[in-house]
Amino acid sequence: MKITIIGTGYVGLVSGVCYAEIGNQVTCVDNDKKKISMLRDGEIPIYEPGLKELMDINMNVGRLHFTTELLEAVRTADLVIVAVGTPPLSTGEADLSFVESAVHQVALAMNGYLVIAIKSTVPVGTNVRVKQWIATKTKHPFDVVSIPEFMREGSAIFDTMHPDRIIIGADSKRASTLLFELHRPLSDQIMLTDIHSAEMIKYASNAFLATKISFINEIANICEKVGADVEEVALGMGLDRRIGSSFLKAGIGYGGSCFPKDTKALIQIAGNVEYDFKLLKSVVEVNQMQRWGIIEKLKQALGTLKGRKIAIWGLAFKPGTDDVREAPSLEIVAKLLELGAKIRLYDPVAMDNFLRYLGHPDIIGFEDALEAVTGCDAVCLLTEWEVICEINLKQVAEVMASPIIIDGRNVFDYESVKKAGIIYFPIGRSKPMDRIQST
Ligand code: UDX
Repeated sequence: MKITIIGTGYVGLVSGVCYAEIGNQVTCVDNDKKKISMLRDGEIPIYEPGLKELMDINMNVGRLHFTTELLEAVRTADLVIVAVGTPPLSTGEADLSFVESAVHQVALAMNGYLVIAIKSTVPVGTNVRVKQWIATKTKHPFDVVSIPEFMREGSAIFDTMHPDRIIIGADSKRASTLLFELHRPLSDQIMLTDIHSAEMIKYASNAFLATKISFINEIANICEKVGADVEEVALGMGLDRRIGSSFLKAGIGYGGSCFPKDTKALIQIAGNVEYDFKLLKSVVEVNQMQRWGIIEKLKQALGTLKGRKIAIWGLAFKPGTDDVREAPSLEIVAKLLELGAKIRLYDPVAMDNFLRYLGHPDIIGFEDALEAVTGCDAVCLLTEWEVICEINLKQVAEVMASPIIIDGRNVFDYESVKKAGIIYFPIGRSKPMDRIQST
């Protein structure tokens, strides 16, 4: 199949590479000339494990191309996929201007029947609007299909090649058959549905996962007060197949380019039809509050934070990515600076991105996790990178001014930190001894 993908951001690029990998001819289009020339040289603008290797292979065999020439790319395609960004407006609503501009250009370029699939996350009803936009610009027949994307950063290639499900929202047999054939090699769980439901499945899925995270974070906060251990609680809950064990890891809250944006957008979508989505509003509020637990624990450990040297382990919103969009680290570090702390940072890949958002004379970046904590009064673990989880705790205790770890991801166990002589503040866990005493 000849596929043209518009937008070479995260979703567009990963999808393009994977569609090429399963044997299609893929052309990725972007109006950013610098980006296209970088991609043609085999350089990728994002950090995603395995992406470069797969991109190189598919470019070398001539299945994957990059261009700024949208007209030519649309005219030769059986299927055009729109994967441009839908960033949040200040109201929380998704900004659809990139989608609108892309489909206008597609409408003007098409020269026969075309299927246009929207992969960008768009509010319910957008695909119908897209149809209307295109219809005003072309006389050629076309179909619009919704194919929401569920890939996670850091495991985007695996998620795309082995998806749990493929959702196809279409109102035309011809178009849904084309999309079904394209995805058949990837999954035997392909759900055909109507366009509105497909759009809603994406928002509802992300909102539900965000709800699980905020739920377990609140349980963690209660665990601390009643002497329970959230890790045990999550394990016990997850054994119930109706609940499942995933997305029950307590921590400092969710970040990234999807959950914060999509939860707020769904609240807005509901509000537009005069529905007050109370549950989801609380999920967002709990997520915002959860990060301040780190500051509270630091105050508990050190008293005042003015003039204290605080190290931060991990800046990315999760491991496996250099993405710091909506990462809790941004607000936590900003707050620490406001409280007069001196900051030492370590992250294996996200440091540059972080400093672009938040540079400050009281911040120093280090290339080594141990070096970053040397002479520090405390360290806050914000991203569970493997290299941090496997650090030698004895050495950590030796080089710190006071050996205090505030563990925002619950990666260490009590025995190891105790053996190393570290004062340990995890999330939602009380020590087994405390638990026995409190009962
Ligand atoms: C998410 C969805 O999983 C994906 O389907 C969608 O397409 C895009 O949004 P992503 O943002 O890449 O993917 O990351 P994900 O692994 O889902 O984690 C999101 C955030 O939740 C991270 O900040 C992570 O640290 C946090 N999280 C996740 C928890 O705090 N606890 C958990 O149990 C799981």
